[in-house]
Amino acid sequence: MHIVVVTISDRASKGIYEDLSGPLIEDWLTTAITSPFDVTRRIIPDGFESVRDTLIDLCDQERVDLVLTTGGTGPAPRDETPEAMRAVLIKELLGFGELMRRISLDQTPTAILSRQTAGTRGRTLIINLPGKPAAIQLCLDAVFPAIPYCLHLIG
Ligand code: MTE
Repeated sequence: MHIVVVTISDRASKGIYEDLSGPLIEDWLTTAITSPFDVTRRIIPDGFESVRDTLIDLCDQERVDLVLTTGGTGPAPRDETPEAMRAVLIKELLGFGELMRRISLDQTPTAILSRQTAGTRGRTLIINLPGKPAAIQLCLDAVFPAIPYCLHLIG
């Protein structure tokens, strides 16, 4: 299984600020997954075209099994991850975002600001996580049980 973690952040992509969420996701995967897999990471700027082009490349050229993104889901002008997702996905899976927002609301009322979603393009499952490092473990713990079966269904 090939997994790619994409950090979507103008500041992290320019090196202004350290990407903490990408490494956290990689660590979480290494602890949680027992079967063989490889994981690589990318850091890209925010914005519709940047996210859309990266996701299409990962699905159509790289043929990645699972893409986990972090960042760009909020309401700020440069937060365009959900818009890019809707340009890329063939099937949107609304339950992922719904569940992550629901459990995150127990921790912080600002969780309603996340527009994160998920879905499939070909044999690739793409899931958005919020950008905050504090959200990573909580959200992955919640949604991960559904991922192997989803990959089985689309593979
Ligand atoms: N979810 C969790 N679990 N913890 C958080 O701290 N932050 C929220 C929300 N979801 C947060 C969260 C905030 S403040 C924003 S603006 C949105 O995620 C979008 O974040 P993003 O643009 O970094 O994806």
